[in-house]
Amino acid sequence: MTIQEYWAFVNWDDDPATNVSINFFGKLEELLQFANIPPAVNQVELNPAWQQQKLREYCAKKGIIITAYSPLGGQLNFIPNTVLTSDVLKEIADAKEKSVAQISLRWILEQGEGVVVKSFKKERLVQNLEIFNWELAEEERAKISSIPQKKALSTEPILAPGSLTSVNFADIDIVET
Ligand SMILES: NC(=O)c1ccc[n+]([C@@H]2O[C@H](COP(=O)([O-])OP(=O)(O)OC[C@H]3O[C@@H](n4cnc5c(N)ncnc54)[C@H](OP(=O)(O)O)[C@@H]3O)[C@@H](O)[C@H]2O)c1
Repeated sequence: MTIQEYWAFVNWDDDPATNVSINFFGKLEELLQFANIPPAVNQVELNPAWQQQKLREYCAKKGIIITAYSPLGGQLNFIPNTVLTSDVLKEIADAKEKSVAQISLRWILEQGEGVVVKSFKKERLVQNLEIFNWELAEEERAKISSIPQKKALSTEPILAPGSLTSVNFADIDIVET
C-alpha cells in the first residue's frame, strides 16, 4: 500500500471534521504534500533522552499536535532505559524532591506536548499526575537540553521491514541531527 492509498483509506469519508492521528510516520513531509486532510496528531517517542526538537518544530509549524509515547524511556527490558537512569534527571529530581519520572513528564508538559505514560502501579499513576503545580527552573531546563540523545525504540525489528509503518532511519524525511 502506498502512502497515498493509506491516507485515502484512513480518510475514507472525506469528512474534514475527522481528526486522524498518526504515529511512526516517517514520510511526514511527503504526506503533507498531497493530504487534503492533514493529520491532527503525531504520536512519537519523546522524552528528555529523545527530544525530537526538529520534528516538534516542524509539527508546530504545520499545526500538528505531538503526543509523547515512552515518556519515561519505554518498557523494553532488553535495552537500557536512558530516562529513568539519567544522572542529570536524578540530580534535578533530588534537588526538587520529585521523582525522575515526574521531572521527565514535567519537561514534556513544559514543551507544550501531550503525554501517554503507562504504569500498572497505582501509586505511580498518582505520582505521574502530580506534575501540574510546580515548574522546572531555567537552569534545570538547560541541563535537560544537554542530555545525550538516543532513540529507544526502532520498529524495524518489530514490524515488517518495508511496510508503511516500519522505521528505517534512512526512510525518515525529518531526521534529528
Ligand atoms: N504509538 C506507539 O507506537 C507507541 C509505542 C510505544 C508505546 N506506546 C504507548 O505509550 C504509552 C507509554 O509508553 P511506554 O509504555 O513505552 O513506556 P513509559 O510510559 O515510558 O513507561 C516505562 C515504564 O516506566 C514505569 N513507570 C511508570 N511510572 C513510573 C514512575 N512514576 N516511576 C518509575 N517508573 C514508572 C512503568 O512500569 P510499571 O508499570 O511497573 O510502573 C513502565 O513500564 C503506553 O500506553 C504505550 O502503549 C505507543
